[in-house]
Amino acid sequence: MNGDSSIVLEGRKLNRQFGFGRNRFFAVSDVDFVFRSGEIISIVGESGSGKTTLAKMIMGLLKPTSGEVMFRENPRSLRTKADREEYWKSVQGIFQDPFSSFNQFSKIQTLLLDCINLLKLKLSEEEKMNMMREACGFVNLEFDELYNKYPFELSGGQMQRLMIARIFILKPKVLIADEPTSMIDACSRATILDMFLKLRKQNDMIIVFITHDLGLAYYVSDTIYIMEHGKIVERGNAATILESPVHSYTKRLLADVPKLKEAWDLG
Ligand SMILES: Nc1ncnc2c1ncn2[C@@H]1O[C@H](COP(=O)(O)OP(=O)(O)OP(=O)(O)O)[C@@H](O)[C@H]1O
Ligand SMILES: [Mg+2]
Repeated sequence: MNGDSSIVLEGRKLNRQFGFGRNRFFAVSDVDFVFRSGEIISIVGESGSGKTTLAKMIMGLLKPTSGEVMFRENPRSLRTKADREEYWKSVQGIFQDPFSSFNQFSKIQTLLLDCINLLKLKLSEEEKMNMMREACGFVNLEFDELYNKYPFELSGGQMQRLMIARIFILKPKVLIADEPTSMIDACSRATILDMFLKLRKQNDMIIVFITHDLGLAYYVSDTIYIMEHGKIVERGNAATILESPVHSYTKRLLADVPKLKEAWDLG
């Protein structure tokens, strides 16, 4: 990754509170980040550390209690439909719970067509069909068997693949992948990772992996953010963080992957 690549997304003192009265707490607390074109980032933390909450704020699916997201160096606006379409054409997510990610009343064909229409290209019906077929083929889904179905008729793994097919169509500038491969078997996991990396190469896509797995984070990313109780407690170059972690929480996470170097054969 090039050190002076342009900044695409930036978070400034992002906070998110949940609960009321005595139960109020910060799920995300004063989080700053800078994502540059082509960068691969991992956000690593234990369950409940606030990763999905942060991801949803970045995606614009959850309103921050305070703080700001900057998109291409301007404050992000999601006020009008055009603003939202423009943002979601560029910033896309794959979420842990695929069941909540789709409108359950739209058929698969409609979900994919909506995506194609976001691109605002002049395409014939046939070209659109071909694009949907190609995207499904990429993630090993049979478009002809699925197009007339509803999301609730799909398995969890099929739904995650469908989310990835959307990424293939949209080719966003930023992809937020919240534990995307949990429902996908190891073989297609490698294919999907490969596709993400290809998209990064082709159009400098930023990939933000959200994971518990510091080993995976080290293997794939340029930059790692370590998150504990809603705060980023350590951040930096992936190799530096793994070789000389500073924060005690990072050290503890590392202790959970004692065979990391051996596992990836890194000597
Ligand atoms: N809508 C909500 N209302 C109230 N509390 C919430 C809500 N969403 C998340 N939380 C709480 O905020 C904290 C952070 O949750 P979050 O889902 O962001 O964690 P996470 O790091 O993604 O965890 P996991 O690794 O298990 O997915 C948790 O304590 C969770 O219970
Ligand atoms: Mg989560």
